[in-house]
Amino acid sequence: MRHDILELFDADPTVLHLNTGAFGMVPRTVRAAQQRWSDRIEANPVRFFRLECHDELQQVRHRVTDFLGVQTDSVALIRNVSEAVGVILDAIDLRAGDDIVVSDHGYPTVALAAGTRGAAVRTAPFGIDASDAEIAAAFAAQVGEHTRLVVVDAVTSPAGLELPVRAVVEAVAPVPVFVDAAHSAGTTELDIEPLGAAFWATNLHKWCYTPRGTGALWTAAPWRDRALPAVTSWTSYKGYPGAHDFPGTVDFSAMLAIPDGLDFWAAHGGLEIARRNRELLSVGSELVHRRLAMAFPGDLPGFDPSWPGRAAPGMRLVPLPDGLIESADDAAEVYERLSDRGIECPPAFWGGRSYLRLGSGLHVDELDYDRLAETLVATLRGLFA
Ligand SMILES: Cc1ncc(COP(=O)(O)O)c(C=O)c1O
Repeated sequence: MRHDILELFDADPTVLHLNTGAFGMVPRTVRAAQQRWSDRIEANPVRFFRLECHDELQQVRHRVTDFLGVQTDSVALIRNVSEAVGVILDAIDLRAGDDIVVSDHGYPTVALAAGTRGAAVRTAPFGIDASDAEIAAAFAAQVGEHTRLVVVDAVTSPAGLELPVRAVVEAVAPVPVFVDAAHSAGTTELDIEPLGAAFWATNLHKWCYTPRGTGALWTAAPWRDRALPAVTSWTSYKGYPGAHDFPGTVDFSAMLAIPDGLDFWAAHGGLEIARRNRELLSVGSELVHRRLAMAFPGDLPGFDPSWPGRAAPGMRLVPLPDGLIESADDAAEVYERLSDRGIECPPAFWGGRSYLRLGSGLHVDELDYDRLAETLVATLRGLFA
C-alpha cells in the first residue's frame, strides 16, 4: 500500500482496500471541507437555507457540468444513480403493459424499480468476451413494441466491463436509452452529448473523491421538462435542473464539497489515476492467477492479463478455480471470510463460473496483490479443503 497516499484518507491502514469502486474513498481534505460547510450551515441555518444555499448549489452544478463537458442546464445534481433511475422511470411514465430492456450484466435496481411500476423487464444476454456488434445485437433483439427504455451500463458492476454504449444506442433507435455511467466520471474521457442517449447518470462518489451521496444526471433536451425530482419541494417551480437542487430540507454539506473532491482528483493526476490503475491491474491479476494456479493445479482456466479485453480501468476479473464457489451464496461467504481477514475484494459467481473482481486505486501498489493472493489461497483452502 502506498502509505503516503493512504495517509490522505481516514481508511483503516490495516485493511487492503481493493474495492474502492463500490462506495468510493473520501480524502481527509474533502471530509474537512464538508465539515466546514456543516459548521457554516449550523451557524445560521435559516439564513443559509433561505438566502445562501441556492446560489451555492448552482455554482456546484456549474462546476460539475464543466467537469463532465456538457451544457450548463443539462445536468441535475442527484445523490446517486439509484435516485436517477426513479427520476427517469417517472420521466418516461413507465407503467404496467410497458417493458424496459436491460442486460444480464446490468445493475439490478433498475429492473426492480421497473417491477414496482408493474412494467416487464426483458434481458439481453451476452458473454464476457462478446464483441461490440454482438452486444448491440443482443440489446436490439429484446426491443419490442412495448419497450419504453433501454438501459445500458457504461461500465458493468459484476464483471467491470466497458460496454459499447454508442453502438447500443444506434442499434435500438428510436427507443430512448439510459446510460448507467455510475463508474464513468473520473475514470474515462467523457463525450456525453454525442452518444445520442436520452439520459446519462454517474456517481461522483465512486471515483472522483467526492463525499458519498453525490452524483449527476444528464438529460437530453427533449426529456428535461419531464425529468423532475421524486420529491416536490417549494423550489419545484424551477423545473429541470434547478428543482433537483433542493429536495426539501436535507444536509447539503456533501453536495457543497463536490468541488473539493474534484480538486483532489485533478491534483492527483486526473485521468492518469485510471491509466495507472489499469496497468496495476494487469500486473496484479497475473500475479493472483499465478498463485492460484500453484495452489490449485489443474482446476484453473488459462489466463491472459489483458483479459477481459473490455475491462474497465479500475476493475479486473480473475477466474477462480472450478468447483469451489458454485453459487452467489458461496461467493458471499468467501467475501465475508476475506473481509474478516482484512481484504476488501469481491468474489462473484457468473454464468456458471467464479471470479474475483480485483480493484485498484491511488493508494494501491503491486505488493498489495501479493497479500491478496496469499490471503485468498489461505481462505479458499480453509473453506473448501
Ligand atoms: C453500474 C452501477 N449502477 C448503479 C449503481 C448504484 O449506485 P448507488 O448505490 O450509488 O446509487 C452501482 C453501484 O455500485 C453500479 O455499480
